[in-house]
Amino acid sequence: MSVAAPDTTTTHLVEVTHLKKWFPIRGGILSRVVANVKAVNDVSFGVKKGEVLGLVGESGSGKTTVGRTILRLIEPTEGSIRFDGQDITHLPKNQLRAYRRRMQIIFQDPFASLNPRMTVGDIIAEPLVIHNLEGSAKARNERVAELLDLVGLNAEHVRRYPHEFSGGQRQRIGIARALAVRPEFIVADEPVSALDVSIQAQVVNLLQDLKEQLGLTILFIAHDLAVVEYISDRVAVMYLGKIMELAPSRDLYLNPRHPYTEALLSAIPTPDPTVKRERIVLQGDIPSPINPPSGCVFRTRCRYAIAECATTVPELKEVAPGHFKACIRDDILN
Ligand SMILES: Nc1ncnc2c1ncn2[C@@H]1O[C@H](COP(=O)(O)OP(=O)(O)OP(=O)(O)O)[C@@H](O)[C@H]1O
Ligand SMILES: [Mg+2]
Repeated sequence: MSVAAPDTTTTHLVEVTHLKKWFPIRGGILSRVVANVKAVNDVSFGVKKGEVLGLVGESGSGKTTVGRTILRLIEPTEGSIRFDGQDITHLPKNQLRAYRRRMQIIFQDPFASLNPRMTVGDIIAEPLVIHNLEGSAKARNERVAELLDLVGLNAEHVRRYPHEFSGGQRQRIGIARALAVRPEFIVADEPVSALDVSIQAQVVNLLQDLKEQLGLTILFIAHDLAVVEYISDRVAVMYLGKIMELAPSRDLYLNPRHPYTEALLSAIPTPDPTVKRERIVLQGDIPSPINPPSGCVFRTRCRYAIAECATTVPELKEVAPGHFKACIRDDILN
């Protein structure tokens, strides 16, 4: 068993090492920092070229903060971010520009993330203008038509406004906008959570097709393990700012090794009658990230917790090939 060190044998497009993001809370008349929200608290992982890495966990576990910190939309408190071999953690704005084009984000809410006063054509062309691509208006229009087609929308709708589209169609517009500048890496932050269940699969399938067609690398964030199961090559499970388990998607579903993953999975009905899962109800609420439990942050809700869990911070270690868990109990869930 080894500690999860950066894997040098595979090509990681994105690599995050000991990433922390603490949001200071200020108080008093001097506006001093009185506490910190430990949104992301020492997280390390890599996303391989061409891979979809699912990132799941309950609300407030730090998923969005991880995604936005990688894109340098928010500044990390500690740790480092590498993109295609280059350390971009402290890259100044002018140098970050080139990387910004290579990394794009798809937002959760297709209703809030599209400007209602812009036509679909202008929304999709905007990143091209910002990054000075496809210089002429004609070239831009051609690219917009190509993108609408790529995401399965009618290219004749370019002069319409967002409110004329359904939720699923709007998310397709958001995807077209993200793809306009030909990025290599996409953070998809709960791209289907706001959509009707009947539409979710269509949008996930579209992302899967685009990934294959364009060779994209994707960090796919979701609440729900069921949503990421099919699209993800590997899945990382977060809880209270930490990664609890990381494994190839199928391994994680068939053989969860961390008590938190076991509980999350037990809430998903399995279509396979041979897979029997006991329903595990997690007791209590998620503790505050301002004052997380000592030792293992999950221990207050863990049915396997022992005294040592309060004093030892579990490392994310490899317990089977490619399967990592942060839990000191080697005697359970093997
Ligand atoms: N700008 C901010 N200032 C202070 N606290 C923040 C800020 N952004 C996020 N947080 C806090 O950090 C923690 C992690 O938030 P984050 O949005 O990353 O979680 P999440 O896993 O994406 O949750 P959700 O599933 O609800 O989207 C939460 O406790 C949140 O309240
Ligand atoms: Mg979020």
